Amino acid sequence: MSLTTPLSRYSLGFLPTPLHPLNRISAELDSPQLWIKRDDQTGLSGGGNKTRKLEFLVGDALAQGCDTLLTTGAVQSNHCRQTAAAAAQAGMACHLVLGGEPPAQATGNLLLDRLLGAELHWTTRENRLNRLRELEAELRAAGRHPYFITYGGSDPVGAAGYVLALEEVRDQCRALKLTPDAIVVASSSGGTQAGLVAGAWALGWEASILGISIDEPQAALQAHVAALASHTAAGLGRPHTFAADDILVNADYLGGGYGILGDLEREAITRMARAEGILLDPVYTGRAFGGLMDLLRHRPDRLPKATSGKLQNILFWHTGGQPALYAYAPGLV
Ligand SMILES: Cc1ncc(COP(=O)(O)O)c(C=O)c1O
Repeated sequence: MSLTTPLSRYSLGFLPTPLHPLNRISAELDSPQLWIKRDDQTGLSGGGNKTRKLEFLVGDALAQGCDTLLTTGAVQSNHCRQTAAAAAQAGMACHLVLGGEPPAQATGNLLLDRLLGAELHWTTRENRLNRLRELEAELRAAGRHPYFITYGGSDPVGAAGYVLALEEVRDQCRALKLTPDAIVVASSSGGTQAGLVAGAWALGWEASILGISIDEPQAALQAHVAALASHTAAGLGRPHTFAADDILVNADYLGGGYGILGDLEREAITRMARAEGILLDPVYTGRAFGGLMDLLRHRPDRLPKATSGKLQNILFWHTGGQPALYAYAPGLV
């Protein structure tokens, strides 16, 4: 079975992204065979998971006759950087509302936002949505047609990108005769996990999708992803109600909070770099892979149960974010 969507799509990514084994780090960790899905290789200005969401968000914006993308995030937001790149590629303007103070020297994602021509607006973290709504009204008054993109592009339109990503990975797994016991992914604003969950359900593919929470308590993220997956399925014309309990979330690795680099992330980043030559990022994939390493070493009972009784294959979904490494240089090495 394959999926079709009634949503408009604007091509931005180099898809499908590769799926390949991680032999050296699996041997080092003495773990089940690890695999990696390379959404850090989607191509859009450094890649990452927002590319797939933005294909549908930009498609929707253009279908509505919009000429400006408007969104918000943290100073080192990968979502903002990829939105700026998507706007450039689609010939649209881009306004970004960033939480915090402008640093003296722009680096990492912020540097790229500037290079990509986005207009930046600074406010406090708490005031970001208010500022965004104000800006939307200002742009309309100036005769522009802004398209508002929520945090992380995580609405039913954006999450559709991950419904199709699930189909992509299912086809790759079939070709490799691979049945992952679990798919492990960083989860924050929830659109990636919600799309994957809705996709697995729509395809009838039995995949256990474990979100490692980056910044949300377990119950809150489960409820949020369940609601978003339900809306995403409805938007695709496949209505289904997901319950919070249907969603697998581990929130044991919140560390010092959002964007705070700790030993867990540092070890994950350096190990993956040195064993496989693959760069994780300091905020999302470093935390998610660090959490997976901890689960494998110390708490395998908290991983999804393998149908065969023994975990054999685990697929880690790399969601990108490497440009932020440069902004974290002092804490990394
Ligand atoms: C690199 C990276 N990985 C994972 C995520 C989390 O994805 P989601 O917000 O869809 O849960 C983000 C979100 O910004 C991200 O930038």
